[in-house]
Amino acid sequence: MAMIENACRQTLEATEYVTIVTQGEAGPHLVATWGDYLRKLGIGDDTLIVPVGYLRETEANLRRDSRVQVLAASRQVQGTHGPGQGCLLTGVAEILIDGDLVARVKEQFPWARGAMVIRVESAKTQL
Ligand SMILES: Cc1cc2nc3c(=O)[nH]c(=O)nc-3n(C[C@H](O)[C@H](O)[C@H](O)COP(=O)(O)O)c2cc1C
Repeated sequence: MAMIENACRQTLEATEYVTIVTQGEAGPHLVATWGDYLRKLGIGDDTLIVPVGYLRETEANLRRDSRVQVLAASRQVQGTHGPGQGCLLTGVAEILIDGDLVARVKEQFPWARGAMVIRVESAKTQL
């Protein structure tokens, strides 16, 4: 069963940016990527791909603990109580620095040094 569907897919199709949280030794670590970057690389049934420019601390965190949480939101998507929906995705991620996928990411984003692949294991609306 696809994890990214219905309101969560609509939210990812509209969100301006998403936040991505990893767990560091000192606590949570928050970074972001633009929604249009995710859309350009293709939002799969269960995967998101992020062009990696920096994300050095995130990379170190993922080596210790691959769990991530991602939050997307858009006023353009209807929520239960009115305009605005948010979606919390949880899953695991890794940063790749070579291979076919990275070559594809570099074609679209020449500044990228790699690709973060997020495998979504659950998706839950927030509004
Ligand atoms: C809206 C927004 C979009 C961003 N998009 C990217 C991105 O696509 N790739 C990237 O490497 N960093 C992106 N950044 C910067 C990261 O959030 C982060 O600050 C930087 O990569 C350093 O990561 P680190 O703290 O894990 O080393 C973005 C920041 C913002 C605020």
